[in-house]
Amino acid sequence: MKENVLTKKITDKKAIIGIIGMGYVGIPLGIEFAQNGFEVLGFDTDEDKVNDINSGKQIMKHISTKKMKGFIENGSRATSEFNELETVDCILMCVPTPLDIYEQPDMSFVEKATTTISQNLKKGQLIILESTTYPGTTKEIIKPILETSGLVAGKDFFLAYSPEREDPGNKDFSVSRIPKVIGGLTSKCLNVANALYSQIIDKTINVSSPETAEATKLMENIFRAVNIAMVNELKLIFERMNINIWEVIDAADSKPFGFMPFYPGPGMGGHCIPIDPFYLSWKAKEYNTEAKFIELAGEINRKMTENVAHRVGKALNDHSKSIRDSKILVLGLAYKKDIDDMRESPALKIIELLKFKGAKICYHDPYIKNATKIEYADLSKDNLAKADAVLITTDHSNVDYEKVGKYAKLVIDTRNVMASVKNPKAHILRA
Ligand SMILES: NC(=O)c1ccc[n+]([C@@H]2O[C@H](COP(=O)([O-])OP(=O)(O)OC[C@H]3O[C@@H](n4cnc5c(N)ncnc54)[C@H](O)[C@@H]3O)[C@@H](O)[C@H]2O)c1
Repeated sequence: MKENVLTKKITDKKAIIGIIGMGYVGIPLGIEFAQNGFEVLGFDTDEDKVNDINSGKQIMKHISTKKMKGFIENGSRATSEFNELETVDCILMCVPTPLDIYEQPDMSFVEKATTTISQNLKKGQLIILESTTYPGTTKEIIKPILETSGLVAGKDFFLAYSPEREDPGNKDFSVSRIPKVIGGLTSKCLNVANALYSQIIDKTINVSSPETAEATKLMENIFRAVNIAMVNELKLIFERMNINIWEVIDAADSKPFGFMPFYPGPGMGGHCIPIDPFYLSWKAKEYNTEAKFIELAGEINRKMTENVAHRVGKALNDHSKSIRDSKILVLGLAYKKDIDDMRESPALKIIELLKFKGAKICYHDPYIKNATKIEYADLSKDNLAKADAVLITTDHSNVDYEKVGKYAKLVIDTRNVMASVKNPKAHILRA
């Protein structure tokens, strides 16, 4: 297998790129390759999604219809016909890596996708896993499954790991501007993978092994989870001391070195921070070692949702009301601002807790209008006035917080967005 044959095909932009898993990660990656002159074939088991992609429909709020249409117009497309995998030169796997009901890594999507590749694997192809996972996955899971084809990794096909670091909705860092960490099974694997990413990414960082690249991604997310847990805990302490944590963070952030601000919130959300760290704590057990920081951070971050529900109860109590039968308007279902992703959103857990205690819940989110089982409410003067409490769980930029402050009676603010509203009529409680 000659690395220069595939490398030349890549640099000539003649290589066809296959992406398995056309979701939050796969779609922007596919668009980036297509915009840079490559033909992309996006594979997904979800046939509705495949049809939506092929009709140029907008699937995520932060990826415009223009970009989706451009993907198709450039000659790329999506498919559920996995035997077409043998027609592509490079295969990037972007399938989910969730936790199972025992909070252990659920590798079923990765295993299934890899098995499908192995059934269609051809000599000279480059296979890269992008899904977030524990160190060892590429060598312990991907390589053996692919080699059931009879082909040998590093000899007959190239194999590498390169974690996706996408931050959906972050306008400052598009795919091309986020440096790509790459670990190859062999130096040839690394060179070819590097040649591929260099076509679309400004800066690539080659590391010595797939395990190093796998560990890098986990370290980044553990760093966030632990720091978020620390500010969440400090918030609870400062709350009792009647000190505003956000003011403390802003003041501390004036230090020009040695400090990086993290902000408290209603709990962990999204597809990374509540999940990825536990891939490492699980794997650490195999090496007879504990990941105490990760477990503690998880414990503290999980408690935040209960704390918010408790604060809502206390705030209503201070207004001589009970949670039972109170109308609570939850403002924001997305797990973070300005996106339409509510996976693992703390708002959903808080709603569950409040409903369990008998609250009547409705919600408003400018980007999510079809949440099942929860009543949607416009952010009208009437709806704000009717609510016994408005609970702010997401700090979307396009919400009229002045209006909230003007018409709501009681606002429980987990994101400190009401701090900028001057002279609100509502009673505001930071939580
Ligand atoms: N969402 C993010 O912001 C983000 C950021 C960095 C890394 N990641 C990681 O990237 C990976 C993918 O995450 P995502 O958010 O894009 O997930 P997603 O759920 O948005 O998309 C995954 C897609 O894979 C498809 N799929 C599942 N099994 C398949 C199979 N066997 N063959 C083909 N398609 C299959 C699903 O139908 C879905 O469309 C995960 O490991 C995640 O941790 C996500």
